[in-house]
Amino acid sequence: MNIAMLGSGFIGRFYADSLQGYRSRDKIVSIYSRREESAKKFAADYKVAFSTTNMEEAINRPEVEVVCISLPNNLHEEAVMLCCKHKKAVITTKPLGRNAAEAKRMLEAVEKAGIFNGYLEDLVYTPKFLKAHESVKNGALGRILWAKSRETHPGPHSDWFWDIEQAGGGCILDLGCHCVEITRTYIGKDIKPVEVMCWADTQVKPIDAEDHAIGLVKYENGAIGQFEVSWTFRGGLDLRDEVMGTEGTIWVNSFLRTGFEMFTTGKGADYVAEKAESNSGWLFPVGDELNELGYNHMFADMFNAMEQGVNPKETFYDGYVVNAILDAAYKSAKTKQWEPVQLDIWRGRTGVTKDSHLQEYDAENYLVKEEVTHYGAKKVILKSKMTGKISEKTLS
Ligand SMILES: NC(=O)c1ccc[n+]([C@@H]2O[C@H](COP(=O)([O-])OP(=O)(O)OC[C@H]3O[C@@H](n4cnc5c(N)ncnc54)[C@H](O)[C@@H]3O)[C@@H](O)[C@H]2O)c1
Repeated sequence: MNIAMLGSGFIGRFYADSLQGYRSRDKIVSIYSRREESAKKFAADYKVAFSTTNMEEAINRPEVEVVCISLPNNLHEEAVMLCCKHKKAVITTKPLGRNAAEAKRMLEAVEKAGIFNGYLEDLVYTPKFLKAHESVKNGALGRILWAKSRETHPGPHSDWFWDIEQAGGGCILDLGCHCVEITRTYIGKDIKPVEVMCWADTQVKPIDAEDHAIGLVKYENGAIGQFEVSWTFRGGLDLRDEVMGTEGTIWVNSFLRTGFEMFTTGKGADYVAEKAESNSGWLFPVGDELNELGYNHMFADMFNAMEQGVNPKETFYDGYVVNAILDAAYKSAKTKQWEPVQLDIWRGRTGVTKDSHLQEYDAENYLVKEEVTHYGAKKVILKSKMTGKISEKTLS
């Protein structure tokens, strides 16, 4: 694939490392950056033939097959509209928009232009997530009741993130977008998110946006998604998921304490892992960040889908749904009420009801619980269908 990269910063470089790594034949052929020296440096580092400080010029080149947007949140829409104008396939980093209105305009524009669109939510492509999700799809956890995702770190690396106008929000938008898409995928992307309750506060940083938040997203089938996000967490990048179903549980730790622990006095110490706060003492390095964070699997899905003429797993539509959920979270943090998710565009199932919680035991009773005790008794706890009375029976 011949790629135009817009933005030469933190994520642009992670993407470039993934796109051009492992003898890949995908190639960045055009780079746009705001400053000439950054564009030139990126071009030199990644052997990119064309560099420019003009966004449209980077997109509108005959050899460019797909445009990858790695720009601050407030520039996503402008870049997407230029891709529509020049009918270039587009893949965009997260969050899609600063809010659902922006995301909806982008979704409608790419669909009207008839161009391929992908939403670069890398955390639903990590090797651990892919395996965990496969188990969920195969029924290993039964009915999904609750899915939690946590992303917390000591705060982002560039000025614009901390400016509410450019970023569009604080940690809810920046990190909550990952958590919402992770939990939504575990619960089922065809299940409608209906309402959100969220606590948010600015506890530490001298900013207008929130630096810490916790939210609950209620889905039409009764499942609950939970996000925990912070820009004030100390100790590195904490990326964890927990899923609870009627038949099982999954705990995933994607970044810290993943089985790789190292001690150093600090001599010769260097980069450890994204947002690591220390490079001495006991450390938790990450073996291959590009792979562990899902970038490789994500781009493979995007480009395979493009070649096959189908949608990738994550499209602008998903980015729009995520933005709509986060808008409700912001509203709830203000009103302190459950707030409905406004989805003008919904393509999943509707009218899904909560599954029954009554498990048949025999003609007279429902089963509440069975257990083998430490003294060898096998017990069942039952609820009478007729009277509702709870009783227990020792079977052996
Ligand atoms: N895991 C992820 O998916 C992930 C991680 C980090 C960032 N992001 C997203 O990537 C995007 C960029 O974030 P980043 O971390 O790379 O930021 P960054 O500040 O490191 O880089 C941003 C790039 O945009 C350019 N830029 C900044 N302000 C500009 C302006 N006003 N006009 C034109 N260009 C400008 C910068 O020069 C730089 O090339 C954001 O949307 C962010 O949310 C995604």
